This record gives sequence, structure tokens and C-alpha cells, in this order.
Amino acid sequence: MAELKKYSVLFICLGNICRSPAAQAVMQRLVDERGVTDRFFIDSAGIGGWHIGDLPDKRMRVHARPRGYELTHRARRVQYSDFEDFDLIVGMDATNVDDLHARAATIEQKDKVVMMGDYIRQYPNYDHVPDPYYEGSEGFELVLDLLEDACRNLLDSILQQNNIPQ
Ligand code: 4NP
Repeated sequence: MAELKKYSVLFICLGNICRSPAAQAVMQRLVDERGVTDRFFIDSAGIGGWHIGDLPDKRMRVHARPRGYELTHRARRVQYSDFEDFDLIVGMDATNVDDLHARAATIEQKDKVVMMGDYIRQYPNYDHVPDPYYEGSEGFELVLDLLEDACRNLLDSILQQNNIPQ
């Protein structure tokens, strides 16, 4: 039987060492739990290039591990081909979304960009995933709480809109 086309999701934050690699791991686990692993390709990248090739920030890895996430992504910068290659590009905050819109070359590419905050349901005080880089431990826990909520809702929406059976 012919292999079904994978739905591809690219998570974007500023440095690609805190929020977006965590989002990638949270989404990958949800996809695996729902039994749709072979229908998805999940990746992450950064707006900036300061940390290219680095593992996620140690603090992000330390906070993710007790929740069962091993963060092994190597940071990379978002590139032109991502706008062609991915079905959905998810920014963590309004600045990420603005930066992505500025890089999109066509209306179709621009339309692929969404904001993670639009999928947060359990934390009504948050409309984005805040940058934890200059925050303490609570900032990293908050990122994981928000991502676990938002990724669940985002995955529901993708499965429904693309008629992907579970
Ligand atoms: P992230 O956090 O965007 O969630 O990966 C940051 C990581 C690094 C920097 C800023 C934010 N930085 O300025 O190096």
C-alpha cells in the first residue's frame, strides 16, 4: 500500500533551545500516544541563529525530564525552504509570528503560520508561550504546562481538519 503523506509541523521560537524543542517533544509524544506516529513529521527551529547546533538549554532539559521528555533536538535557524516543506508553522508568541510573516514569500506561506497561544485553553491568562530564557524555574515549568495544554488542542484540530483517523 502506498505510504500516506505525512502532515508536517514546525515549531518556532526565538532561540530554538527552550520553547520550540520542548513543543516538538510534547507534540511527538502526543502523536505517538494517539497511534498516528507514521502520519506526522514534527520539527523545530529558531528565528535567531545564536545557538545553531546546540542541544536545548540545560534548564529546559532538566525541567522536561521528570515529565518524560528527553530533548535531543539540535538548534537550527528557520529557512526559506521550511515555508514550502511544512504544512503548519507554529510561533510561540506574537513576535515570532510577526517575524515569520515577514519571512514568508507568498500568501500561501503566510497562511501556514499560526500562534501557539491560540490553542491554550486551560490557562486563560496566557495568550502566548512566554520566553523563559531570563526567568527562573517557574518560567520553565510554565512553558511545559502551556505546551502540554496547547499541543493537545492543536493536535485535535489537525486530526479533525485533515480527517486523520486515530
Ligand atoms: P527560546 O528562548 O526562544 O524559547 O529558545 C531563548 C533562547 C535564547 C535566547 C532567547 C530566547 N537568546 O537570546 O539567546
